[in-house]
Amino acid sequence: MVLKRPKIIVTGGAGYIGSHTVVELWAAGYDPVVVDNFERSHPEIMNRINRISGNSTVVHQVDCRDRKALANVFRSAGDIQAVIHFAAYKAVGESVLHPSIYYDNNIGGLAVLLEVMAQHGNPGMVFSSSCTVYGQPKELPVTESSPVVPALSPYGYTKQVCEQLLKDCAMAKTRLKSVSLRYFNPIGAHPSASLGELPIGTPNNLVPYLTQAMAGLRPPLTVFGQDYPTDDGTCVRDYIHVVDLAKAHVAALQHLEGMENPSMEIFNIGSGKGHSVLELINAMEKVTEIPVPFEMGPRRPGDVAAIWASSNKHLPTWSPKLSLEDALLDAWNWQKSLSQHPLDGHA
Ligand code: NAD
Ligand code: WQD
Repeated sequence: MVLKRPKIIVTGGAGYIGSHTVVELWAAGYDPVVVDNFERSHPEIMNRINRISGNSTVVHQVDCRDRKALANVFRSAGDIQAVIHFAAYKAVGESVLHPSIYYDNNIGGLAVLLEVMAQHGNPGMVFSSSCTVYGQPKELPVTESSPVVPALSPYGYTKQVCEQLLKDCAMAKTRLKSVSLRYFNPIGAHPSASLGELPIGTPNNLVPYLTQAMAGLRPPLTVFGQDYPTDDGTCVRDYIHVVDLAKAHVAALQHLEGMENPSMEIFNIGSGKGHSVLELINAMEKVTEIPVPFEMGPRRPGDVAAIWASSNKHLPTWSPKLSLEDALLDAWNWQKSLSQHPLDGHA
């Protein structure tokens, strides 16, 4: 007898974290159904997912704010075990310049999706949240009970509102079960070098900028600040390999299945280790044997000095396995493959 794979709707499944997660869902015995409007990703990514996983992923080019189209997706999919909701905008600086599109997409998209879910069997949800909700924590490492502070950007605020909405839905008529994963800094790429981050324009995040500078596509990296109260004066972050992060979603689905009472449970998803910007540059030079072009510069407004996750509370079936060096080598191999086979509009 062939067992039916449980269906999981993955919004934003063609994006950076979503695409790696769809690969892991197939590997773990699920049947992922992707919903993406491709506004911030490339349709070719779906072919790459299918080549890696040896499966044919059902994909709907639909915007999560389009109630009618979303309802059709749920109707055609049939029995849905859970939804993983990645679809959102994620650029802190853009959210400061254009707050209303962030409120509309990030909060509006979730609100519409939850309503449609409630009308279609009310499956559970795994939600993409962010360590940005902690601001600059007073105590390190950060645990799930560290205080959530007033958001430093409209983007961060949308994540706080979305978490509150999920909490409210647990108490509502529909009694939603959800897991909110607060990601630290996802980096790296699939080891096949066929999936990875596709920044639009000049990357704001450290690793994509670094790999583009190494490839000669950008001027040298500016290290933002060297006078922070850290060991070498540069900011410290918790970098997590995107493949480890993708696997955390599989563990979150298993956890969701075992949750007895409706609630919103939170898990930090990081490596549990902090690395400074200079340490990351050194590690990149070591694994690639290529000198990294960089110069020291002033602080970037809004940056926190240091943040990393406590590794005490883990999803029961998950722990990170890959190192900073693994992630940096995979990120570099992805950049090389992108330079050889560019996707339209992406370097
Ligand atoms: P991404 O931009 O690569 O992927 C997002 C995907 O969602 C894209 O494919 C985009 O086309 C799609 N999308 C956006 N709005 C949509 C809509 N209304 N309807 C349908 N599809 C839509 O981003 P990512 O890095 O994969 O991030 C995924 C999630 O994780 C986001 O919610 C983000 O806020 C969160 N997150 C990301 C990071 C990070 O550093 N990458 C850190 C913490 C949290
Ligand atoms: C990392 C470190 C910079 C670029 C952001 C969001 C956060 C989350 C993850 C979504 C910092 C330094 C960077 C450069 C540099 N995303 N840096 N030169 O700011 O920790 O977090 O992405 O939820 O919400 O804020 O990530 O990659 O931008 O920066 O020196 O050109 O690298 O100062 O210390 P950040 P990042």
